[in-house]
Amino acid sequence: MTQLPQRKILVTSALPYANGSIHLGHLVEYIQTDIWVRFQKLRGVDCTYVCADDAHGTAIMLKAEQLGHSAEQQIANVKAEHEADFAAFNIGFDNYHSTHSTENHELSNMIYGRLKANGHIATKSITQAYDPEKQLFLADRYIKGTCPKCKTEDQYGDNCEKCGATYSPMDLINPKSAISGATPVAKESEHFFFTLPEFSDFLKGWTRAGHLQDEVANKMAEWLDAGLQSWDISRDAPYFGFEIPGEPGKYFYVWLDAPIGYIASLKNLLDKKGEDWYEYWKPDSTAEVYHFIGKDIVNFHALFWPAMLHSANLRTPTKICVHGFLTVNGTKMSKSRGTFINARTYLDHLNPEYLRYYFAAKLTSNVDDIDLNLEDFIQRVNSDLVGKVVNIASRTAKFINNAGGVLATDIADAELWQKFVDAGETIANYYESRDYSKAMREIMALADAANEYIATQEPWKLAKQPGTEAQTQAVCTLGINMFRALLTYLKPVLPALTADAEVFLGETLSWNAPVSFRAGEKINEFKPLLTRVEKDKVDAMIEAGKEALAAAAPKAEGPLVDEPIAAEIDFNDFAKVDLRIALIANAEHVEGSDKLLRLTLDLGGETRNVFSGIKSAYDPKDLVGKLTVVVANLKPRKMKFGMSEGMVLAAGPGDKEIYLLEPHTGAKPGQRVM
Ligand code: MSP
Ligand code: ZN
Repeated sequence: MTQLPQRKILVTSALPYANGSIHLGHLVEYIQTDIWVRFQKLRGVDCTYVCADDAHGTAIMLKAEQLGHSAEQQIANVKAEHEADFAAFNIGFDNYHSTHSTENHELSNMIYGRLKANGHIATKSITQAYDPEKQLFLADRYIKGTCPKCKTEDQYGDNCEKCGATYSPMDLINPKSAISGATPVAKESEHFFFTLPEFSDFLKGWTRAGHLQDEVANKMAEWLDAGLQSWDISRDAPYFGFEIPGEPGKYFYVWLDAPIGYIASLKNLLDKKGEDWYEYWKPDSTAEVYHFIGKDIVNFHALFWPAMLHSANLRTPTKICVHGFLTVNGTKMSKSRGTFINARTYLDHLNPEYLRYYFAAKLTSNVDDIDLNLEDFIQRVNSDLVGKVVNIASRTAKFINNAGGVLATDIADAELWQKFVDAGETIANYYESRDYSKAMREIMALADAANEYIATQEPWKLAKQPGTEAQTQAVCTLGINMFRALLTYLKPVLPALTADAEVFLGETLSWNAPVSFRAGEKINEFKPLLTRVEKDKVDAMIEAGKEALAAAAPKAEGPLVDEPIAAEIDFNDFAKVDLRIALIANAEHVEGSDKLLRLTLDLGGETRNVFSGIKSAYDPKDLVGKLTVVVANLKPRKMKFGMSEGMVLAAGPGDKEIYLLEPHTGAKPGQRVM
């Protein structure tokens, strides 16, 4: 008998940018990938999962600047945060690296060198918007102005959100740099291009050779038919990235070295093991390479990347697995609705296993968006995981535990058990093809069958009847075995739940052969494995999402914007102002004035006459007897109605909104305010 060669697979997820936090949208991808990898490993496949932070580019440089630290500090901070979030969601990377690494530098230079040596790099002078103040070329998204067509203000880049017009950012009326506010100027500089059109025929073949989902291949065909353009792979200094060898002041565009980061992360891992990354990437490698990505970055992975690899004489990916975008409650994740949920916000409120299961129940092998409907999330997790799966163990384990904890030796219903065994291959095929939702449906159908069986057998009644010990034990043994089979099939999705169940079962569940019936052995005390999702926890998470937004967003309006804080003064300047507590001994209207009240202030032995423009907000009789604060050493001012000997302190924009200061109780007239 010939044995199939052992599969050896490299798996990647897209490298998240180092300028922001991981959110639930990202997690669709990392959870999808992680499930696939865990499935492969559980089946005994040699599977390696690598990822990294995507650390380069203008956005990261500007973010670091805004936070007042170096780009290196920025990417180190974010990497630590990303790794902690991923670990909490049980994303089992074999290696998590950074594109700002020696491995990636070396590999990027090597690959660029090959593209260049093969004549696939061209140079051309191009004219771009330039921020003369910041001394930086501006990508379209960093330019704002008025739409030349419909005149809507504050439009970004090269298209108008209002009328849909497309234009060059320099055609905007009154264009401004979104970074400095300066008016951009047109400036010429030399750029380096990867000559993509030369790979048109190669790509027409490659995109139809089974590496892509059909719908993705069709999309690529549209682009290929429309004609490819050379790809601009250089950026001018200042830029956070790798300088192009031999070209001072020119840097690799972040998207050139980002996918090379996949290889770099693998190299970083294999170097430690004394293995060679090239085994995976040589043109005739028998290893498989799977890239999991979102639909927004298909052009980079299905066109540029295979063309680059082809030019550099490296192998191309086996499969690009594209998923859709996450919506929450049917619409785009929204910060104001609290549905733009960061990984950390979720973790503060809910168990990661819930989300892993929910995504699995929704994910298919196609590119459709997937919706996190929060009502459905609560309902689905509670009914499937708590109500169906865990319930099987909690309804049967105690009768085994009570009777000494040893499983029966025979199979109470062989036909039913065979259903569980036979389903294994179907479920495995669904995992392999990333049809997780079908796998989950299959598993839940088995769970239903198990619960029906238990409901019919009623072990809780059997256990009370004398002489039925053996039958109770046999029924519950089948129950426990059905639970074992279900958890084996769910193990890629629910690593934490399965780990806890393995403690109770006293075994490690494996799936490199059909599930076997466990008989005659001891199991441990059953402990509750999963609590229900509580609606108030979900609500609290949404609230927290809104609060995080309020804390993070710069205020676009309000007192600080209306009246920015004045220039700094030193203490001596402040001490010159002598503020005193004053008792309002009397208050009255001023004849002939529609703005002023006359206040008689008692400063604890000294009386002052003060005219104050607070008539619109106060009725004099409400003020008498109250304490307030007065500027006591303000030069007296002669007014139409008499001398004003000080000024009382008040806040507010005016009219009805004037608020006099009042000290906490206990302050005495005449006391100085410091
Ligand atoms: N840095 C690039 C990838 C470089 S790969 C060589 C990037 N980073 S990202 O942080 O913006 O996105 C990382 C992955 O998360 C991408 O595959 C992206 O499609 C995915 N998602 C980001 N937001 C998403 C949703 N809202 N929904 C589903 N996936 C999403 O792109
Ligand atoms: Zn417009």
